[in-house]
Amino acid sequence: MFAHRYGPWALIAGGSEGVGAAFAHKLAAKGLNLVLLARKPGPLAEVAQQVRGIAQVQVRTASVDLRQPDLLERVRAITDDIEVGMLIYNAGVIGPSPFLDRPLEQNLKSLRLTVDGPVILAHHFGLRMRERGRGGIIILGSMSSFAGSRNFVVYSAAKAFDVIFGEGLWYELKPYGVDVLSLIIGLTRTPKLVQAGGLELAQKTGQPLLEPDEAAQEGLDNLENGPTWIAGAHNRERATAYAQMDRRSAVESLSGASNT
Ligand SMILES: NC(=O)c1ccc[n+]([C@@H]2O[C@H](COP(=O)([O-])OP(=O)(O)OC[C@H]3O[C@@H](n4cnc5c(N)ncnc54)[C@H](OP(=O)(O)O)[C@@H]3O)[C@@H](O)[C@H]2O)c1
Repeated sequence: MFAHRYGPWALIAGGSEGVGAAFAHKLAAKGLNLVLLARKPGPLAEVAQQVRGIAQVQVRTASVDLRQPDLLERVRAITDDIEVGMLIYNAGVIGPSPFLDRPLEQNLKSLRLTVDGPVILAHHFGLRMRERGRGGIIILGSMSSFAGSRNFVVYSAAKAFDVIFGEGLWYELKPYGVDVLSLIIGLTRTPKLVQAGGLELAQKTGQPLLEPDEAAQEGLDNLENGPTWIAGAHNRERATAYAQMDRRSAVESLSGASNT
């Protein structure tokens, strides 16, 4: 049973909106208690309230910036007394900007969110899952990870790290009964995408949008089909096309598609 294999608690890093909130609803419906992390307390409280309304599960929330150096201490303070059997590392968007136009410190801070964060939390909770011989880890990747692209120079490289990190972890943890999935999504109708003008971009480039609900559902449905799952048939088609391109064409294609 799902809750026995991946429960009793799930932690969602970036669990207050979009795909993270969709995961929260779906995991609660499967009977998992939730720890939700994000920065803004308002949306966190809102999702917690909605989830409590649909399922008899416990929900803890913490307003945490995943980029802070004391991330692990903050997370341990609210999880050391519970068994986290599922980790979803969802937060990761970095808005578009030419690399040199963003101050170096901001670029490095982005890496703390997209690279350090998943490594820190997967190490901490992965150790405990391996000891128990069960658990699940989902790390959000992106179609941007297939090649470099302008305006997303750090983001696409960091997302490539996330995907490859999850794949290696999948192989290492499989013998211990822990399922790991790198979940690759493309343009998805999240509040962050809307804020960043992503709807206009989708319209301009003719790219179909994924709904957060579909992305989370495909992730959960394919948790045992690691190391990698690409959500959305249109994204799987694009991934096949990128794989057949030479690197220059792939970079040019992705750079054209990220012209925001
Ligand atoms: N949306 C897309 O089109 C798209 C496309 C490809 C891949 N992805 C990937 O899908 C994942 C979700 O994307 P998203 O569009 O929903 O935006 P996101 O900003 O990566 O994730 C949203 C959630 O993460 C939280 N969050 C963001 N930065 C945080 C930080 N520094 N510390 C703590 N929590 C933080 C947000 O709440 P707060 O803002 O309150 O902190 C919110 O709960 C990301 O990994 C992204 O790279 C998205």
